[in-house]
Order: sequence, then C-alpha cells, then structure tokens
Amino acid sequence: MTLEEKLGQLNLVAGVSDTAATADLALVRQGRVGGFLSIFGAGATRRVQRVAVEQSRLGIPLLLGYDVIHGFRTIFPIPLAEASTWDPGAAAATARAAAREAAAAGVNWTFAPMVDIARDPRWGRIAEGSGEDPYLGSLFAAARVRGFQGELGSGTVLATAKHFAAYGAAEGGRDYNTVDLSERTLREIYLPPFRAAVQAGVGSLMTSFNEIGGIPSTANGWLVTSVLRREWGFRGLVVSDWTAIAELEQHGVAGSRAAAGALALEAGVDMDMQSRIYLETLPALVRAGRLPEATVDQAVRRVLGAKARLGLFADPYRGVSTDLERAILLAPATRKLARDVAGAAIVLLKNDRDVLPLAGTLKTIAVLGPLADSKEDALGPWHGAGRAQDVVTVLRGIQERAAPGTSVRYAAGCDIAGTSTAGFAAAVALARAADVAVLVLGEAAEMSGEAASRSTLELPAVQQQLLEAVAASGTPVALVLMNGRPLALPWAAEHVPAILETWFLGVETGHAVADVVFGDVAPSGKLPITVPRSVGQVPIYYNHKNSGRPPGAEKWTSKYLDLPATPLYPFGWGLTYTRFRYSDLRLSAARIGPADTLRVQVTVTNAGGRAATEIVQLYVRQDARSVTPPVRQLAGFQRLALAPGEGRSVELALAPAQLGAYGRDMRFAVEPGSYRLFVGPNSAEGLEGRFEISTSPPGD
Ligand code: NOJ
Repeated sequence: MTLEEKLGQLNLVAGVSDTAATADLALVRQGRVGGFLSIFGAGATRRVQRVAVEQSRLGIPLLLGYDVIHGFRTIFPIPLAEASTWDPGAAAATARAAAREAAAAGVNWTFAPMVDIARDPRWGRIAEGSGEDPYLGSLFAAARVRGFQGELGSGTVLATAKHFAAYGAAEGGRDYNTVDLSERTLREIYLPPFRAAVQAGVGSLMTSFNEIGGIPSTANGWLVTSVLRREWGFRGLVVSDWTAIAELEQHGVAGSRAAAGALALEAGVDMDMQSRIYLETLPALVRAGRLPEATVDQAVRRVLGAKARLGLFADPYRGVSTDLERAILLAPATRKLARDVAGAAIVLLKNDRDVLPLAGTLKTIAVLGPLADSKEDALGPWHGAGRAQDVVTVLRGIQERAAPGTSVRYAAGCDIAGTSTAGFAAAVALARAADVAVLVLGEAAEMSGEAASRSTLELPAVQQQLLEAVAASGTPVALVLMNGRPLALPWAAEHVPAILETWFLGVETGHAVADVVFGDVAPSGKLPITVPRSVGQVPIYYNHKNSGRPPGAEKWTSKYLDLPATPLYPFGWGLTYTRFRYSDLRLSAARIGPADTLRVQVTVTNAGGRAATEIVQLYVRQDARSVTPPVRQLAGFQRLALAPGEGRSVELALAPAQLGAYGRDMRFAVEPGSYRLFVGPNSAEGLEGRFEISTSPPGD
C-alpha cells in the first residue's frame, strides 16, 4: 500500500443525500476513502461498494456506517425507554432486529450503542443511553453489542460503543461542554459500560467530543491506548466523532490541522470521521519524519481487521439485494417486537384511585394534547431511516382498542411549544363531556438528542397551562408523558391521579400505550434514572455519597432550603396494576469470604387482583471503607411474573467482586467489612439485611 492508500483507509466520509458526492467517488477510486457514513439502501450501498471493489487499485471494500440508535426502519423505543424495561434481553433483541434491517440496507457498521452514563437530565443525549447506573448500563451495553454483532455473520453489523468517555458528564448538562472529574468517578461510574462492551466483543469505539480535565478525548492517549487497549485488551477500531479531530484546534490543544491529526493518531484514534485531516495532512508529516509510518500502519491494520471481521473481503456486499431489503424492513414480526418492548418500557409513575386501567364500559374517552396524534415526535430523536408514516399514534391506538360502544374524541389543545391557547376551550369541553381524559404531553422529538440540552425540565409553558385547564374540568386525567429526558413535574405529581412515563416508543407507540391504558399489559417498567423535583436539584442520582452532613431536619446539613432532599421519583421506581408485598428476607450467610457468593432470598407476593411483573431490586451499601462509599449501589435484580395472590421466593446472587472499588491507591479491590443490603421495588424502599465480607474464609 502507498502511504496515501494507507491514510485513505483511515478516512471516513459522510455521504450526501444517501449517496457519495462525485468528488468523493473519485477519492474512492484513488483508494483514499476507508468508509462512508450515512449512505444506506441496498441499491445505493452496492453502487458505492462496487466503485471501491472494482475501480480502485487495491479493491478494498468500504465500511458503511450509520447511526442505528433505536432501530433502522422499524423504530423501537429510545434507549432510555428500553432501559426502563430492565430487560437487557429485550435490548439485545431490538438491536438484533435493527441490525438485520440495517444490514439488509447495506449498512455494515453502526455507531451504537451509546453507553454514556448520564446524571444530568438537561443533557439531551440522555435519551440515547441507559440512564444513570453503571451496573444497569453495563448490562445494556453488553446486550446491545451482542444483539448488533452476534457472530458478525449475515444480518449483523459491527457495533460502536460511544462516546469514549464521560461525554454525559458535560458541565451544566450542556452538550459538547467541558468535563472535569476524578479518575475514581471516571472509572467507577462512566467507564464500566465501555468495559462491558469491550468484554462483549464490541468491534469499535468512538471517542467523545469533550475534554476531561484539560485533555480532549480525541487526543487522549491515556484513555485510548493505556486504558482501553493495554488495560482492557481492546483489539478493535477507534473512530473519532464527527470533525472531532479538526475540533482539537478549537479546544486549543493543536495549533494547526496537521498538529491535530498527529495528536489524534498518536493517541490511538484510527479513523478520522469527516475532518479529512489524516488524508490531507499526515502524508507530509510522515514524509518529514515527524510521525512514524508504523503508527499509521497500526491504525490501518485495525481498520482492515474490522473489515475482515465483517467478512467484507469474502463478500463486500454481504448478500445484500433490494428484494431482501424489501422483505426485511418493517416486517410484521419486527413490529410485534417493537410493540412488546414498548409496552414493557412504560413506567407507571402514579395511579391514584385506580384511574388506570380504563374500564371497557366507558362511554366517552377524550384523547387530548399536542403529542396525542403526532407521528413525527413519537419516533423520538435519532430515528435513523424511520418514517413518520409508519407510526401508530396514541390516538389511533386508543381508537383501535376502545370498545365498540366507547366514543373517542380528540383535540390537540395547543402546540408542543408556542403561546397560543386558542385550542384550550375545545379540549376542556371534550374533557368535561368525557368519562376520562387521556392527556398526552411532553417534548417534541427534537428537544432531546444531540445539541438539544435544556436549562429547564418542565413542560413547555403552554402545555402546563393546558394540563391545569384540563385537570380543572373535574374529569379524571391519565397523563401520558412523551419525552427524551426526565421531566420535573411536581404539579402533575400532586394533582393528576394517573401518570404514565412513555419516553418515546417508536412506531408502535399507540398500540403499546393502548395495551397498558386498557390493561391488556400491566406496566412493569422501572425508572433507569432519577426524576428530580426541579432543575435546581440536578445533579441528583441515587448512588450519591453520603457527605459528612447528610440531609436532616437540622439546619447545618446538606440540603436546599426550598426543596425536600428526595427526588420526585427515585431510581428504580415504577408501579403497576397490583401491589407487591416483600417479606422474609434471608441471606445464605452472615459472613462471606471475598471469593464466595452470597445468596439473597426474598418472598414477593402479588397482593392485588391482577397478574403483573415485578422487577425485584437488590442494593448494597458498605458501612465504612478507605474511600467513601455510595449510599446505595445496584447489585442485582430479577423479573418476576406473579398471578393474583401468588407468592414466590426469589433468589439473587451477590458476588463480592461486584462491590469492588478503587481504593486510595487507585487499585480495584473489595474491602472487607460490614455491608447493608436492601431488597425492594425501587432504590428508596425495601427490606434491609446485613452481612460481612471477611478476608478469611467464613466460619473462622
Ligand atoms: C455526531 C454524534 O455525536 C455521534 O454520536 C454520531 O455517531 C455521529 N455524529 C455520526 O452521525
């Protein structure tokens, strides 16, 4: 390979309107493009792949990347919603189905899963991740990697764990902003999902836009080479984010494009997304002896390795055809999966007076709100090749499911944002004349996702006014929330009897919401993220430290004067149409050695009248150790389906290795000592037990 051909392999270029620009096709012929992003469709991808394979000197096939964040054509719930299922198997299944569709459309590489931990709901990209917890986040990261990649045979794509690292820790929740955190927090909170992705065999990682403590990730050799490659043994490909190499100049760590390119390549970033800096500036540096060609070779080997793993040298087209594509996209079985997962993702936040599920005997249901019939918004942010026309809205889902004798009346009431209240009167009139009002409020799809940070967590003002006006009608209200981040809605939590958090559920939104609203599916979702009372509480997350002065009644404690210390809804929260009773907590031992497993048993009883699924959660807290412990840390959970009146004993296994932490010397270790353990329905409630981890075997 010539130097230009080598650097060509490191050049990742965006397609233009689903195809490559003519000038870029000329570059492909010269062997100066290693891959494209955002070109899809069996026809389009075959055409561009053919240019690389048949018209360039070396005939090396292209990587064809795409952001398959929550579905390709069949749009599934946003990742935050999927995390609300607490069912990594569901995420693996949707990732597999999305991969099948994307692969049928000629895509061979996805820029997913996004595994960034997010503790700040102002950050719009919280929608793309699995929430605030490293344990839950790691399970979802690994599941999605397995789903996308499988054995990398046909119908799969190479996955990318992104954004490495701590992108979610942006100051103030403002996208792309500076991050400054300790190595301990980085390693204990932000890195575990990446490590889990690596252990699950992820093919690539994407560096993040942000800096950490003065060093942009795209130029961070410690992160990319020392931690990722040496410590974790990652052998795959590292790609920059979009123009992130060029942005090293803006960050102020590179004085020229060439310097930026050298910094990134030397840090271990193999592929340059969209800056074209490697291609355009590195040949001169290498020829001048300022950058070893061996460094280039190493990156090229990783790109070629990814292509080989995908089988592109054996079949660059991976069996793609327009017929296959037509048969696979939006197939009924995939839609069915979307409906099932969407139903499991819905979190019942509140249900006073059993407003839900709705009885089959209602005469009139008012379906209200600007999101009730919005197809585009139900898709949520980053919806790939999804189309609004594929969406079943809440209104349609309710119309389809309502009993023949029930009349369903609809009014939007207002726009998602804006100031006009002209539609209020009609909406309130419908509410007044109905037995129940299903009011669908929240955020537009583009209010979360990339470059969509918000400084408030409230409903847009006009929607809050509509909510209050409809609630004043006296008709019971079931509030259906659609949003890409936790919203702080204390008024609704106090005044509205029933609230469903649905996030954005994708193409099957309406069916899934109707399934839950009418009780065909009992809600089982649990929050993967804390819901604050107001934006002023942010950051608020369940696994915080205790401080020397935990909040209490007396003045000199850590709290706000004007708010309770607790969130509006805690991590792990979620109700259903029955009540679960927890009893009889038993531990297999009072004291275990570091290599033992503690078996934790509890009896859970369905004390209500409907079948439902509970997600039994196990949290742990160490009393004292060399570095301050979190007040609770999720250490296990289990789904349990119970018929009315049924009680069952659940067993959760706890291995001390899960409780390790980075000590004062930054070595990862499990410290002996006494621990508290909580088993319950969420992070704020549960039965409590105690155990000890000893350095010597139990019984000594
Ligand atoms: C920028 C985003 O940060 C990243 O997540 C995405 O994969 C790329 N753009 C490519 O679309």
